[in-house]
Amino acid sequence: MKNGLEAQPLILVAGASGQHATVVYEAAILSGMMVAGYVTVDDSASLTVLDCKQLGRMEEILVPSRLHDHSFVVACGSNKLRRDISEQLSRSGAEFQTVCHPSAIVSPSALISPGSMLLAGSIIGPRASIGRGVIVNHAASIGHDCIVGDYSNICSGARLAGATRLGASVFIGLNASILQGCEVGQSATIGAGAVVTRDVIQGSVMVGVPAKALRKHDHNSGAPDATGK
Ligand SMILES: CC(C)(COP(=O)(O)OP(=O)(O)OC[C@H]1O[C@@H](n2cnc3c(N)ncnc32)[C@H](O)[C@@H]1OP(=O)(O)O)[C@@H](O)C(=O)NCCC(=O)NCCS
Repeated sequence: MKNGLEAQPLILVAGASGQHATVVYEAAILSGMMVAGYVTVDDSASLTVLDCKQLGRMEEILVPSRLHDHSFVVACGSNKLRRDISEQLSRSGAEFQTVCHPSAIVSPSALISPGSMLLAGSIIGPRASIGRGVIVNHAASIGHDCIVGDYSNICSGARLAGATRLGASVFIGLNASILQGCEVGQSATIGAGAVVTRDVIQGSVMVGVPAKALRKHDHNSGAPDATGK
């Protein structure tokens, strides 16, 4: 995938566990990207991301020489952490790069915003729009004309039927399905295996088939706990 930044080596920002960063690193390497290394957001000196080079803490790269000579992808599973770090990097003038696994199938008419991660076996349909810092995980599919808001996370095997619309920081659990045309409000969480048949109000946690509200949560977290990262 061309986004004009291929020449700049990539720096990954890893979350506390480094699990998502590992998946993104492998996708980046397999797609031929030049990866300079990864940085951590806390004191995770013991963290390893395969053979990716650790460059230190994120604060250490917020200097002009590094910011302008590199591009970034925030490879943290938590929607809230991913958004907060991305906004911090943006304010510092960082450029973001999309990571697209070579086995992902992306429609030429889809719009992919910088900093997104399209992982192995994912499918993005015609005229779909993927926001900034979105994760489309293994074998997830995004139908035609879908809109996926910034910093949302579509977990492995999840399916968005055509023309569904997700707000920002939505979490769609493993193997969940969203039926055609449904709208899922900002920061909603759709549990693993749920089938969403109607619009979902923002912040709701929905489970089951058909999906029903488990509760309404009031923090704008995008359910970092649900991701386990
Ligand atoms: C929906 C979800 C966020 C709720 O998490 P939670 O608030 O910690 O919920 P709990 O585990 O306390 O469960 C509360 C109740 O909901 C039920 N429940 C939880 N998740 C469910 C799901 N996906 N489908 C159906 N029921 C579910 C539990 O069995 C429990 O029922 P009970 O009160 O009758 O015992 C979570 O279970 C989930 O599905 N997360 C997505 C996981 C995922 O896809 N991870 C991918 C990582 S990459």
